[in-house]
Amino acid sequence: MSKPEINIQKIDNEHEILPYELLYLADPSRESIDDYLARGHCYVGFFDQRVIGVYVLLDTRPHTIEIVNVAVDPEFQNKGIGKCLVMDAIKQAKQLGAKTIEIGTGNSSIQQLALYQKCGFRVQSIDHDYFVRHYAEEIFESGIRCRDMVRLSMDL
Ligand code: COA
Repeated sequence: MSKPEINIQKIDNEHEILPYELLYLADPSRESIDDYLARGHCYVGFFDQRVIGVYVLLDTRPHTIEIVNVAVDPEFQNKGIGKCLVMDAIKQAKQLGAKTIEIGTGNSSIQQLALYQKCGFRVQSIDHDYFVRHYAEEIFESGIRCRDMVRLSMDL
């Protein structure tokens, strides 16, 4: 199947189509999702009037915006939608006046690390043992223990 054409729109935090099932793919905590939805900017990607992607931007420091959640419906993954959402997030952050955009992911999240670097992000720092400190259960991806938070950023 060729890349689906998606239409990305900003939605307000009270909107009935807030796609929690997609937001949960990137973040298991409802508390954390509701916290950044209340303070951030939520954008959804539609294909044929169906919501198939989401990202959330949050103003973290002066002139700095972080992508705190990005997710694509599993049925539509690996078709270029994630890249499209991240490139749109970069454009929106610029329009919101940010000078830097940031994103974080686990050391074992190989696909995400590939995607973000292909979109122009550079590794900024490593928060060692972040996932060991903040999660009760051990997390494994691609046979790798997820221990460290890799923080990436890009100058806009
Ligand atoms: N090595 C090299 N490149 C890889 C790779 C690997 N192991 N795995 C993926 N990629 C590349 C793809 O080739 C593609 O690059 P290209 O366009 O240059 O070919 C790029 O990563 C992105 O692929 P894309 O199809 O746009 O991603 P997607 O639509 O599947 O969305 C996620 C990616 C992460 C958003 C999606 O998998 C998802 O929703 N995951 C669950 C939620 C999540 O983990 N969110 C991130 C929280 S940090």
